[in-house]
Amino acid sequence: MSQNRLKPLLKARAIHKRVKELGQQISADHPGQPLTVLALLDGAFCFVADLVRCMDQPDLRLHFVRASSYGKNTTSRGKVALEPLPDLSGQTVLLVDDILDTGRTMQAVKSILSGAIVHTCVLLDKPTRRVPDGLQCADYIGFTIPDTFVVGYGLDHGGKYRHLPDICALAEN
Ligand code: IMP
Ligand code: MG
Repeated sequence: MSQNRLKPLLKARAIHKRVKELGQQISADHPGQPLTVLALLDGAFCFVADLVRCMDQPDLRLHFVRASSYGKNTTSRGKVALEPLPDLSGQTVLLVDDILDTGRTMQAVKSILSGAIVHTCVLLDKPTRRVPDGLQCADYIGFTIPDTFVVGYGLDHGGKYRHLPDICALAEN
């Protein structure tokens, strides 16, 4: 039976430092303005919880929506399943996800939010994985990483590892 091996890629301390910088940058870019944060579940739950607490925003709303594009393994199914979204037309929306991989998930949500002003934010970016119909670039990016499957700090493999404070590459051996 094969076992998974975890190789630390980003330690908790580095993640928190970068998340704080991102929160401060986002607030500096939207001074005193109403901002609606829309976070994609399940993967973004750790990231967005830390991010919003680093933002100095007097009028912030936080919504969650469940989106899924991965099955049990580490290969994208290529289809994005989305729960119904709240009506956010006319609002400035910060769309937050854990990782920009093919870009299909963020593009799918962004296209539904056509009546809103949408900014995008991801903790991790795997630029080499992008597909032509995916979102090509996020407005706010925590870290650019190589094309390797990662877990921890909200990211999972079949529901496991989300609780890990570090982000680790998952290697099968
Ligand atoms: P995309 O639609 O291909 O950009 O995929 C985005 C979604 O796939 C993210 O919201 C994650 O839930 C999941 N995902 C992509 N890469 C990884 C990974 O390396 N580890 C865990 N989940 C991933
Ligand atoms: Mg996800």
